[in-house]
Amino acid sequence: MNLSCFSTCGIVVLLVLLFWGDVLKGPPKVYAVEEFEKHYIEWDDLTVADESDQGLDLDRRKPSKVIVVDKDGGGDSVTVQGAVDLVPEHNQLRHKIYILPGIYREKVRVPKSKPYISFIGEEGRASETVITWHDKASDKDTEGNEIGTFGTASVTVESDYFGAREVTFENSVVAIPGTNNMQAVALRLKGDKAWLYRVRILGTQDTLLDESGLHFYEGCFIQGSVDFIFGNAKSLYRDCILHSVANGSGAIAANHRDTPNQDSGFSFVHCQIKGTGRILLGRAWGNYSKVAYSFCDFDDIIAPEGWSDWNSTAKERTVEFGEFRCRGKGAGRRNRVAWSKSFRFDEALPFLTTQFIHAYQWLLRR
Ligand SMILES: *[C@@H]1O[C@H](CO)[C@@H](O)[C@H](O)[C@H]1NC(C)=O
Ligand SMILES: *[C@@H]1O[C@H](CO)[C@@H](O)[C@H](O)[C@H]1NC(C)=O
Ligand SMILES: *[C@@H]1O[C@H](CO)[C@@H](O)[C@H](O)[C@H]1NC(C)=O
Repeated sequence: MNLSCFSTCGIVVLLVLLFWGDVLKGPPKVYAVEEFEKHYIEWDDLTVADESDQGLDLDRRKPSKVIVVDKDGGGDSVTVQGAVDLVPEHNQLRHKIYILPGIYREKVRVPKSKPYISFIGEEGRASETVITWHDKASDKDTEGNEIGTFGTASVTVESDYFGAREVTFENSVVAIPGTNNMQAVALRLKGDKAWLYRVRILGTQDTLLDESGLHFYEGCFIQGSVDFIFGNAKSLYRDCILHSVANGSGAIAANHRDTPNQDSGFSFVHCQIKGTGRILLGRAWGNYSKVAYSFCDFDDIIAPEGWSDWNSTAKERTVEFGEFRCRGKGAGRRNRVAWSKSFRFDEALPFLTTQFIHAYQWLLRR
């Protein structure tokens, strides 16, 4: 046997072995397209209208189902919860819940077992497409126990890959300064990997419970008075309006990062802070609270000290509160607490882009 036969025969033997393996195993597994595609959110997931079809190859669109919610009875459900209930458990397919304009007075829960759900309102009609409820922390459950802040949410989303576009989430309780247990959450978002686009989130105290996961809020309007964006998610808020209705005092961001190795924090980029009430940029709820405002526009309502350590001087050494190139009448940093930072570019950089929320792993923007 010469050398060339040795190598040729070797290859033949190898090929036979390889194919024999396949023969034993049966035909190779054919993966459904969704099995490769499901682990991200893209613009198409926030779209039901035909606009996105133009010029696009329809076959390339991800398969999805649309459920129409119409309070007047013309759709698949008259309530939003009714539509969520129509989605099968452990579904793999994007379900787009298309909500026609109207006031939907109900408490809604999207359970952990129902990923890939989008709430979509009609374009340009977010303020007419409202899911609203009115629980507050001191309210009692059926056993007579206080429901507490986390239980107050008008809409609770526990599942991953949630999307929302042009709808309003509201808690209509108005917290009166000096009273206790008036916390009233409009939206509680604890699922991982969510994209909210032009969504309105309205309340007073504790409006948005940004609880856990990676979240992208784009072009949203968020209203409140005290700690109105709070929780331990890792979120990028871009081009959002943060609207203060604080009465006397208040705070925007209460981030709950508690240990140095938690990958969480809030980053506000190109946002506007407006409204009526004097307000702090943030308070140190967690010991390692992390909040940044970059390229934002601050109206004349920011409390000059800017930030609060939540009565714990120890936190001043461990929190990371920074501002980078913000402008407007409230942006002067002369009277800011000394332990907050005027970021250098390299310090601001990790907060500036969608890399902050590891978007390359799950967010496919148009
Ligand atoms: C502000 O709070 C005070 C009580 O501290 C209350 O009397 C007043 O009505 C509130 N104003 C608004 C606009 O809510
Ligand atoms: C935060 O820091 C305080 C003071 O050092 C400590 O007592 C507390 O246990 C810490 N909290 C957490 C959740 O680690
Ligand atoms: C901080 O302490 C002051 C004075 O004791 C108190 O009025 C205020 O409610 C405290 N704030 C927090 C967030 O605990």
